[in-house]
Amino acid sequence: MRSTIRTRLLAAFLAIAVLSAAGLSYYFLTELESFALRKLEERLDTQARLVAAFRSAAWEEKSLTTAQGRAILDEALSVVGADITSRLRVLDRSGTVVADSTPPTAAGDGADLHERQEVRSALAGKRGANTRISPDGRVTLYVAYPIATARGEVIGASYAAASTFSIRSLLRDYRTRLAWMAGAFVLVTFAVTEILARWLARPLLELESGVSRFAHGDHGVRVTPRGSRETRALAESFNILADEVEGAMTELRTEERRKSRFVSDVSHELRTPLTAIRGAAETLMEEDVDPEDRRRFLSTIVSESGRLTRLANDLLILQRIEGGTGELPLRRIDLVGVVRRSVEALEPLMEERGVTLTVEGEAPEVLGDVDRVQQVVANLIDNASRVSPAGGSIAVVMGRDERWATVAVRDSGPGIDEQDLGHVFERFYRSQPSRARSSGGFGLGLSIVKAIVVAHGGKVEAANSAEGGAAFTVRLPALEPLPAGGAAEA
Ligand SMILES: Nc1ncnc2c1ncn2[C@@H]1O[C@H](COP(=O)(O)OP(=O)(O)OP(=O)(O)O)[C@@H](O)[C@H]1O
Ligand SMILES: [Mg+2]
Repeated sequence: MRSTIRTRLLAAFLAIAVLSAAGLSYYFLTELESFALRKLEERLDTQARLVAAFRSAAWEEKSLTTAQGRAILDEALSVVGADITSRLRVLDRSGTVVADSTPPTAAGDGADLHERQEVRSALAGKRGANTRISPDGRVTLYVAYPIATARGEVIGASYAAASTFSIRSLLRDYRTRLAWMAGAFVLVTFAVTEILARWLARPLLELESGVSRFAHGDHGVRVTPRGSRETRALAESFNILADEVEGAMTELRTEERRKSRFVSDVSHELRTPLTAIRGAAETLMEEDVDPEDRRRFLSTIVSESGRLTRLANDLLILQRIEGGTGELPLRRIDLVGVVRRSVEALEPLMEERGVTLTVEGEAPEVLGDVDRVQQVVANLIDNASRVSPAGGSIAVVMGRDERWATVAVRDSGPGIDEQDLGHVFERFYRSQPSRARSSGGFGLGLSIVKAIVVAHGGKVEAANSAEGGAAFTVRLPALEPLPAGGAAEA
């Protein structure tokens, strides 16, 4: 199992705390010890010098050798010795103790003082110093100074000694205190780490719970960015990601619903003509059908299968354009010419339906596919002629609107209901009255119009004109006129 942030922080903090405490303690204790030893040596030095100087100045050389002189000296040192922590001694030329600030012990210490290196060097006229470690572990410092007459003749030595016992015990005390402090430090570290780890981990835990809820399907989950800059950034990124995923999921669901609606719409549209064909065919299978009915049923079969073919074609066209299988081969076309020719082709049908059709206006050239643009015009005019009353009129008006070439188809029909306006371009959408007519269109004409226009980079809108009747306006991106001599396909 991987450790948590808390454990890692704790380990790091403890390591830092212990290492730095140990390092600092070692450094300071060493410094302290050498400082104390230096101070002690200085002190002994001063004392030994003082005694030597005093001796040299105050006494004639024989005072060291006479019993009376020794007694006075010894008396003086014992008085001082009661109040100081070091031991001061005066030695004669042979290294024998003449006076001592501490009464000699029974063991007769210092019996062979002249053997000591520092004493020998003092008796030879030079300062001597030494450090000894006694069997019980105490360090003792010794400093010896020569005592000389005014003529420079060495007649003895002053000898100062002090044990470092007090320094050692001080250090021991200090170490104990240090251990306590280290303990306290560790406790504080624990507490601080705990708080810090919680504070650091909380936003991460929140984030984690948000992410896991998201992963389990709750796509509405968002987290509040808080904590350090990193966790905030993480939370913000998560929210962006969540938005994207949620959007994609919604899109996917919409697409799914659209597809299944499309399939059921198509099945529904297939049913009416198939039922009609089947009914007619079944009747025709009977023995005695009179010739008049036979012709009627056969014509039903022909017209309904024609409708089925048209449905298949329309769906194929939509699929080609919307599915984007192969971009439309767009080239420069003379929009006016293309529109006029499709209107001409429709004139016989208009005559049959009893409506008049007029074309007016000029429009810039556009990038387009001639057959598709003709289909747009044909679908719009077909719709217009269906809703126009007998004797009605349809106007196709071309023009320019800023960067657009426009083609508007206006009719004198009833117009489009407000509630249908937003839907007429949807697949299979028909307004109520035309839906009632079973033999009407499939409601694919305008979806095809829109798909073609969009594939041309244009747009189409439906509106009701002020004079009554519907107006469909197609906008295609206009091209700048070619320099003289160029020609567009028409
Ligand atoms: N000029 C118009 N005036 C009034 N309503 C219209 C007009 N053009 C279209 N509509 C409404 O919009 C609906 C959709 O038109 P669309 O051309 O897509 O389908 P359709 O004409 O019913 O069938 P199809 O074109 O597939 O044969 C029509 O059913 C009709 O209700
Ligand atoms: Mg139509």
